[in-house]
Amino acid sequence: MKIFVTGGAGFIGSNFIRHVLSLKKDYQIVNYDKLTYAGNLANLDGVAEHTKYSFVKGDICDLQAVEKAMKGCHAVVHFAAESHVDRSIYEPGPVIETNMTGTAVMLQVARKLQVEKFVHISTDEVYGDMRPGQFADEESQLQPSSPYSASKAGSDLLVRSYVRTYGFPAVITRSSNNYGPYQFPEKFLPLVITNAMDNKALPIYGDGKQQRDWLHVEDNCRGVLAVLERGREGQVYNLGGIDIEENLSVVKHVLRLMGKPESLLSYVKDRPGHDRRYALRCEKMEKELGWTPSIPLEQGLLQTIDWYKNNSAWLAGVRGGDYRSYYAKYYENRDHSLQAI
Ligand code: NAD
Ligand code: TYD
Repeated sequence: MKIFVTGGAGFIGSNFIRHVLSLKKDYQIVNYDKLTYAGNLANLDGVAEHTKYSFVKGDICDLQAVEKAMKGCHAVVHFAAESHVDRSIYEPGPVIETNMTGTAVMLQVARKLQVEKFVHISTDEVYGDMRPGQFADEESQLQPSSPYSASKAGSDLLVRSYVRTYGFPAVITRSSNNYGPYQFPEKFLPLVITNAMDNKALPIYGDGKQQRDWLHVEDNCRGVLAVLERGREGQVYNLGGIDIEENLSVVKHVLRLMGKPESLLSYVKDRPGHDRRYALRCEKMEKELGWTPSIPLEQGLLQTIDWYKNNSAWLAGVRGGDYRSYYAKYYENRDHSLQAI
């Protein structure tokens, strides 16, 4: 089986490639990635020399390049996306282009080349804000709140249209917030861990009582592989974690595990349109594919904190250049008063 993985130099894609190559001796992987600010070949250290792995630099919006690279592949796992909500708020254009136009190109080429399975990687954010105590299952309405989640919902609907119209063999996974090794530190947990390592302020948006459903990336990768191998065509599968927690409580947890003081907490101006709660029901994954998340938050946090502490060269690499200007732009002039919310 030859798998075309898009976005394999990003956080989840690189973990997925490592997961597959370590388990599946008869799988080959073509990693197709544009290497945006979030794509980093250092995420694939130790993989590049693998005989069953190859890398092609390219944009998923470039139809001819995608077609050339995808030829001969049996299946597609489509991770590539602009994945950060904050960036999508301040500059929606590239997010909509990659997530919607890019997915449209992927579908067009995969259909033409008659791939046998297309796994589209989506997110719980397409369901939008949950009320207190409410959970989303796969039948819940799509009510995205940010340009990022709207572009993901749009791409999900394109996938759905291909299934209905052309009988195209696609499956969608919608996972909750992932965390773990190799995550770019613009996202909440790596930002908190790496700032705490340097005794820098930890920016908490608004009152910090927003809830997220935390899923360790290894659990997600195991779920995506199960969907690739055994997921039913045309279906959507939710993949959520064990722990749903308020941001503030997760940060305090991290500080306790790292032996750092709560005085590092810094309440900053909230994100516009910020969803209060994400929470998934995942019985379908359990019943159909025997998948349940296995890594509790405490265990996953300990492992992730250790990973960032032990990978200072990787961290120095990603924090250079773009990250420094991003951080200055989004955080250094941010309103630091709770009254501003
Ligand atoms: P990431 O930002 O770490 O990586 C994205 C990768 O896609 C990068 O390697 C980047 O270079 C590549 N890419 C971006 N635009 C491209 C383009 N036009 N052409 C080719 N490659 C391009 O993202 P991630 O966190 O690994 O997320 C992967 C997927 O999982 C995304 O589809 C995202 O929406 C989804 N997802 C992420 C999370 C999460 O918590 N991180 C949760 C649910 C769903
Ligand atoms: P994030 O990692 O951006 O994921 P998402 O918005 O896709 O859920 O953020 C996770 C949560 O953390 C979200 O409620 C926003 C919040 N957050 C902060 O409080 N401070 C920060 O600096 C960041 C990046 C996020």
